[in-house]
Amino acid sequence: MRILVTGATGVVGTEVVARLRAAAGAPTRTVVRAARRAADDELVCWRIGEQPAPRALAGHWDVIVHAAASTRWTLSRTEAARAQRRAAARGDRPGGPRTHLVQVSTAYVGGVRNAEDLRGDEFEGYRNGYEWSKAVCEEVARTEHRGPLTLVRPPLIVGRRHSGEIARFSGPFTLFQALVSGLAAVVVGDPGGYTEISPVDEVANAITAAVLGTPPATPHTEVIAAGRGSLTLDSLLDIVCGTINECRADRGVAPIERPPLVSVDSWNRFFLPLSNQYLSPFQGQAVRLLAMFQSYTSMSEPFEPTWTVADPGAVLAASVRNWAACKPRLALAVPAPWTLFAPAG
Ligand SMILES: NC(=O)c1ccc[n+]([C@@H]2O[C@H](COP(=O)([O-])OP(=O)(O)OC[C@H]3O[C@@H](n4cnc5c(N)ncnc54)[C@H](OP(=O)(O)O)[C@@H]3O)[C@@H](O)[C@H]2O)c1
Repeated sequence: MRILVTGATGVVGTEVVARLRAAAGAPTRTVVRAARRAADDELVCWRIGEQPAPRALAGHWDVIVHAAASTRWTLSRTEAARAQRRAAARGDRPGGPRTHLVQVSTAYVGGVRNAEDLRGDEFEGYRNGYEWSKAVCEEVARTEHRGPLTLVRPPLIVGRRHSGEIARFSGPFTLFQALVSGLAAVVVGDPGGYTEISPVDEVANAITAAVLGTPPATPHTEVIAAGRGSLTLDSLLDIVCGTINECRADRGVAPIERPPLVSVDSWNRFFLPLSNQYLSPFQGQAVRLLAMFQSYTSMSEPFEPTWTVADPGAVLAASVRNWAACKPRLALAVPAPWTLFAPAG
């Protein structure tokens, strides 16, 4: 079986490649962007969308796992459009009508959209440029890939179920840091709103099952989520702050306080105008970044899983413990309270 994995250095790609290499009879070639990593025979350097596919990737592929993506939530409209154009330029892609394309997308291109949350219309109702570009990538795969197609849609990805290990601390981990540092002076959202997370090893399990299983006769979408068993924003904050405080207590460090929850309505009406006026540029930027989590952590409905994540609370606690063990300086920091600045002029 000839398998190609793009995005092999990322959070998902690292886990998937390790799993496929461990599975007997699954030799895997991987695409990386950075030339310095191409010493390994299995690695091929390719800047997707910027260069044609290298000759090393010619020939038939049984399966292509496409996990490469620009994953920054703060992509501008121009950057997101560029990411879309890259996805649309399928002419130079390896793979043909007999190739099973397993495309890693995101659960947030589906689900219910709340009218009253903090999303604007800049990205056609999607939360940000990243999500918008992922929706278009799905559409391109559906309309242009001629072979079997599996779309894998994970929610926010955290570390492995039992150890919390993960290739890099991105996404939800920035929230942990913001809670300890004091930057998250308030959390905006609905305490009963749903928050979907998945451990990275279960995302890799779902992808590996698609790769090694029978290719679907019609396009299949795998939604990885806890559904009705998912966390709420309230339980998420309890688990994150509670676990951080257990780690701090073990080292004899004072606990952090759980920040108050502010509804979206109060935030938009009172806090946002004040924050624009009185916060430093750095604090203002942090507020805008944290606000991006609101619609992810306060969904009015959870997703409907096809691949169910059990006990997401235990998964989250394992990730917090691993993060605190790997980043003690951040996890044991003394929170800095917010200070207000007088408006200029
Ligand atoms: N992490 C999450 O919470 C999450 C949640 C839902 C869905 N997903 C989806 O899961 C997939 C993998 O995400 P991830 O978290 O593993 O992302 P990641 O850690 O940011 O890694 C992205 C990978 O894509 C590569 N890449 C980006 N642009 C490329 C280009 N033009 N050419 C070649 N390679 C390129 C990166 O290479 P470099 O190392 O060279 O930068 C890296 O290997 C994505 O489709 C993402 O949308 C992730």
